[in-house]
Amino acid sequence: MRKTLTLQGLDATERLAQHIARYVFPGFVLGLEGDLGAGKTTFTQFFGRALGVADAINSPTFTIMKHYEGKHQLTHIDAYRLEGVGVDESVEEYIFSKGVSVVEWWTTIRQSMPETLLTMQMTFVDETTRHVVIEGSGRYARIIADLDA
Ligand SMILES: Nc1ncnc2c1ncn2[C@@H]1O[C@H](COP(=O)(O)OP(=O)(O)OP(=O)(O)O)[C@@H](O)[C@H]1O
Ligand SMILES: [Mg+2]
Repeated sequence: MRKTLTLQGLDATERLAQHIARYVFPGFVLGLEGDLGAGKTTFTQFFGRALGVADAINSPTFTIMKHYEGKHQLTHIDAYRLEGVGVDESVEEYIFSKGVSVVEWWTTIRQSMPETLLTMQMTFVDETTRHVVIEGSGRYARIIADLDA
């Protein structure tokens, strides 16, 4: 299942994050792709808030992986710096854990990602607008089917 959405302003991005957060399950994995500034971290912040994470979520670019407590344990990974380096087992352990994982630049570590996941390709349109191609199969298809776009 795949849809293309237009996110007009931060509110639309927040609504999408809230929608997806309603469907998470243990082991849920979301892979984000998109240029610098496309909105991957911004989306993750809204998503974390919707999952009841109280701590501020910031870009883990320099630490690669951060963990947050909410309704589920949320792991936020930024794979940008892992290109050609590979992933250490501790990262995979979290991606395949019972928590919820969000991976920015997920295609960089494609070989460490589960076969079935939810993916979002974000594209800058203008200052406040983003396009998103959201795609997923199996348990993830329902999330996309239920979007009104
Ligand atoms: N509709 C929108 N959705 C998401 N972000 C938006 C939107 N409109 C404006 N923005 C702004 O775009 C910027 C997106 O930056 P963000 O750090 O989330 O991007 P990123 O994809 O994580 O980039 P990087 O690859 O550098 O980590 C933020 O300043 C955010 O406020
Ligand atoms: Mg980011």
